[in-house]
Amino acid sequence: MLILGLQGSPRRSGNTAHLLSIFLDEARRYGAQTHTLEVDRKNILPCKEYIVCEKKGYCPIKDDMQTEVYALLRAADAIIMASPIFFYNVTAQLKALIDRSQTLWARKYRFKLKDPRSKTRQGFVLSVAATRGKNLFEGVDLTAQYFFDAVDAQYNGRLTYRQIEHRHDMKHHPTAAADVKAAVKKLLSPRANRKKILFVSSADACRNQMAGAFAQLLAGDKIDAVTGGSQPAKSILPMMADVMAEKNIDMAFYRPQSVNDVISDFTPEVVIALDGKKECPPVPGATIIDWDPPKITTPNIEVLRSMRDDIESRVKQLIDALDL
Ligand SMILES: Cc1cc2nc3c(=O)[nH]c(=O)nc-3n(C[C@H](O)[C@H](O)[C@H](O)COP(=O)(O)O)c2cc1C
Repeated sequence: MLILGLQGSPRRSGNTAHLLSIFLDEARRYGAQTHTLEVDRKNILPCKEYIVCEKKGYCPIKDDMQTEVYALLRAADAIIMASPIFFYNVTAQLKALIDRSQTLWARKYRFKLKDPRSKTRQGFVLSVAATRGKNLFEGVDLTAQYFFDAVDAQYNGRLTYRQIEHRHDMKHHPTAAADVKAAVKKLLSPRANRKKILFVSSADACRNQMAGAFAQLLAGDKIDAVTGGSQPAKSILPMMADVMAEKNIDMAFYRPQSVNDVISDFTPEVVIALDGKKECPPVPGATIIDWDPPKITTPNIEVLRSMRDDIESRVKQLIDALDL
């Protein structure tokens, strides 16, 4: 369960950063993996309205959105949008990231593609502002509503604080720690008991990715599915994304991961071996199941289609067998 925190303030140790860090600390107590994206430290250009994303499904601007951020938005089970109020909305740095999520909006609404985590991903807002204005958080609220829709997250809730101005004000807030505790409990406790399943292959570029995506899509409310490779490839197999897109499943921004990195903070209960048990690292207490799928000889489109259908039916059988 990956919780992605978007830290939208340019102040690295200011109020927003503090609020987000206590939120993510609490999330780790529920067994979540967390990642903080310091948005101001990233090279994220504003949208140039080239409209390529709406015609072709990708953004031609080469920056950290391409190298890092789209993949994180896809990998996240929850996205925490954290920002101080700057003129009644999020900071310009965070707004640039949000505007660039138009690519994900286009893939969803123009290309009718479904993200594997679309049914289960959650969104949450943290925000602070100096004054007491009644409508202080209305801009952030509306922006969050449409951002979360574009990135396929359900808007779960928000914590907002008025009269927070100087760098360390948030640290002294009397109710923040208790508020965060209650909010994280509401956000994560329904998901804490999901069965942790790790799919392992050599490259984590093709069948393994398909398996993780089907598990997430078909039973993401009951399964926390993660994939990893013993020798991860640099990128997923483009033809795999093509055959998944034929079933309206969007794999474009998924990335192979190292299985050793994955298990450093994820303890699976079930390990599915797609390239034999020899590729699986030792995971104490986990049940290892060797699927032993037919070896790929020529990875052409027909072969990949039948592989996709085979993996889908194996995942369905797995879900039935686990009796969740
Ligand atoms: C450019 C700028 C615009 C701001 N606009 C507002 C505003 O519209 N309303 C408000 O109450 N506070 C406003 N503030 C104050 C910040 O929201 C406040 O100081 C906040 O605590 C800063 O959080 P941080 O430490 O996470 O950066 C603004 C601050 C800056 C620098």
